[in-house]
Amino acid sequence: MLQRPRGTRDFLPDEMEARAEIEGRMREAARRFGYRPVRTPAFEELELFTLRSGPGIVNEMYAFEDKGGRALTLRPELTAPVLRLYVNEARVLPKPLRWYYVDDCFRYERPQKGRYRQFWQFGAELIGADSAGADAEVILLADAAIRAAGVGYELKVGHLALLRSLLADLDETERRTVMALLDKREMDALADALVDLGRADLLGSLVALVGATTLDEAFAVTGPLPEEARLRELVALLDAAGLEYALNFGIVRGLDYYTGMVFEGFAANLGAENQIVGGGAYRLAHLFGGEDTPSCGFAIGFDRVMVALGEVAVPHRTVVAVLSTPEGAASAFRTAAAFRAAGLRAELDLSGKGLGAQMTKAAKTADLAVLIGAREAEAGVVAFKDLSTGLQETLRLEDAVARAAAREVDAPGPR
Ligand code: HAM
Repeated sequence: MLQRPRGTRDFLPDEMEARAEIEGRMREAARRFGYRPVRTPAFEELELFTLRSGPGIVNEMYAFEDKGGRALTLRPELTAPVLRLYVNEARVLPKPLRWYYVDDCFRYERPQKGRYRQFWQFGAELIGADSAGADAEVILLADAAIRAAGVGYELKVGHLALLRSLLADLDETERRTVMALLDKREMDALADALVDLGRADLLGSLVALVGATTLDEAFAVTGPLPEEARLRELVALLDAAGLEYALNFGIVRGLDYYTGMVFEGFAANLGAENQIVGGGAYRLAHLFGGEDTPSCGFAIGFDRVMVALGEVAVPHRTVVAVLSTPEGAASAFRTAAAFRAAGLRAELDLSGKGLGAQMTKAAKTADLAVLIGAREAEAGVVAFKDLSTGLQETLRLEDAVARAAAREVDAPGPR
């Protein structure tokens, strides 16, 4: 038997309906903030991702050469594609642009719970705004989307300027080494690495900065920085909005394009792969041929949201089973069409079995049954049965549809 590729998943209808329900709530959060959806191709020029991050990142991607010899890759994330789209098509639109997306990404990673090779991100990019207000809006949208989904999580907000100021006299490779260890919170390995670099003196300040929980504590470690005023304004805006979060200046973010504010969120009930959101301020447009454009955004790991939620109660919608004898078959199609036109879900029985067998099946899968035999077809009526009460009556088609529609409004409760 053929199996799906490693790190991918199949989704059956129950799961797809749960995902659509949650996705709908998150899209609604974005809509309320004035963000509108965009979509980019599933594959892009490889260079789009290597330009900023270097060739090392190719190992983590589904990169391939197409039949025309082009170097392409399945997208590992959507920020670079969305900024490419902006530079290609939308540079002249009035700023800021508020865009969001829900799409799949592909990363060649070791699969485990919450980590897949094909996964979905719900993300947003605010393009062409450069202020504490822009940073605040993006964080608040991420929070609103996660809360709309119903996930409990912890939010951490930081800024790269502080860490970078401590590491200012290291070269690029040294800085990357230190930041990678900090990112993984491997403090012992960090201490060793600093000794190797001849910079053991940095350990104390790094530990103090990573442990700082207020701006005063953090700036006491770094001394004054030009970013301080904006960061204070951001904190004031987030506090005024009533957001629950913690400051954390040890946030490094894996991707290389962040320039200032960075944030991450962690779901309470996920295992090792508990990061459900990551984002921050960045500049990418100039790398793709546009003007230097300050932007800010985030992506939520949609699959991790679904794992964190577990069972999702999807509102139940009335199911009408339409049963018929061979004489009633043509009328059954018209009948089903009438229910559908009223917005109801109508399922024809296609088994060709007797009405008894059709009814047994309907009792398991439907809320209402509509029967059309020779007599009903001739008289232009239907037998209408409520499968929860067992009550059956003969009704004109319009009345049966109205009855079913009223039930749909009255009882949309969970399945
Ligand atoms: P990222 O942190 O690489 O950021 O990914 C964002 C989120 O995607 C993660 O927090 C995680 O929830 C989810 N995720 C990442 N890898 C996997 C995986 N293998 N399986 C399941 N979920 C995964 C970005 O991608 C940036 N583009 C975010 C951003 C947008 N920054 C600015 N704008």
